[in-house]
Amino acid sequence: MRIIFNKVAFVTGGASGIGLGIVRRLLAHGARVMVADLRPDHLTQARELLGPTDSVAFLQVDVCDRAAMAAAAETTLRHFGKVHILVNNAGVGTCPAVEEMTYEDWDWVLGVNLGGVINGIMSFLPHMLAQHEGGHILSTASMAGLIPTANNFIYAASKYGVRGLSDSLRLTLASRGIGVSVLYPGLTRSRMLQSEENRQPKFARPSPVGRPPGPVTPLPEAGMDPNEVGEMAVEGILHNTAYILSHGEFHDELAEHFGEILRRFPHDQIIDPGRQMLEAARRAETAAAKRALASMDKL
Ligand code: NAI
Repeated sequence: MRIIFNKVAFVTGGASGIGLGIVRRLLAHGARVMVADLRPDHLTQARELLGPTDSVAFLQVDVCDRAAMAAAAETTLRHFGKVHILVNNAGVGTCPAVEEMTYEDWDWVLGVNLGGVINGIMSFLPHMLAQHEGGHILSTASMAGLIPTANNFIYAASKYGVRGLSDSLRLTLASRGIGVSVLYPGLTRSRMLQSEENRQPKFARPSPVGRPPGPVTPLPEAGMDPNEVGEMAVEGILHNTAYILSHGEFHDELAEHFGEILRRFPHDQIIDPGRQMLEAARRAETAAAKRALASMDKL
């Protein structure tokens, strides 16, 4: 999507941290933005920070609630007339010790981080397709969706899911003029470490988590400025970048991880010709999608 001016965006988790950074940047490019968030207090604060403008509206919504997300799409269309950019950014994190994990932990983190992305796509994509004006879907994953991190398995499962879903959707939607990107941030200043406060009652644990979730380093001091991350995210929308990598410190770790995977392939295997043929057909489909992506880049 080369031009964002006057386009309409819907941003989940848009009232805090990285989401708010993305909202600010979209507004700077002249977009009109529906800021969606679970927390009324975050929305009130975001409204004060962004100041009075007709380009932005605010909506309280839980991304886990399918009916509410469908209604949010309708509200966005009623308010702004169209919708071109979906930013699935709302996220939460917890990772109790393996002895302490509960189904509530899994359901909550997967429900928000992956289920929220699915609900965003199910609610907004049909409208984007019906408009025939192209569009873009940006989802926020994490470096924990690209490299293995210890004691982070629930969060990692959700973010790897976002990556897989988006990689395939990107190829699927290229011929329809809809770009798909994923943002993979590292440590960023935000309220992420307080995300237990955003746990809906239906996902309440039988007992509190024994140890604090997420990285030990306090996010407020050590993390990147969320506005900087927001700027890179919006550049990614403008250039239809598949992988938006904001934090350079992960380069070597990622190279090592992918290298380790590549070294595990059998090198002297004779590949069954039938299998080769089937894979060739699939690869041809991928190649066609990549040609569609390349022509989108020229628009
Ligand atoms: P944040 O906590 O400052 O912002 C997240 C926003 O999402 C909050 O305003 C919260 O109210 C909202 N939210 C939570 N549950 C929701 C729900 N069910 N429905 C709607 N809104 C909901 O945190 P941050 O860091 O800005 O998080 C944004 C995204 O960035 C998340 O997906 C997170 O996993 C990801 N991320 C953050 C990193 C960091 O270091 N801060 C690193 C890597 C990824």
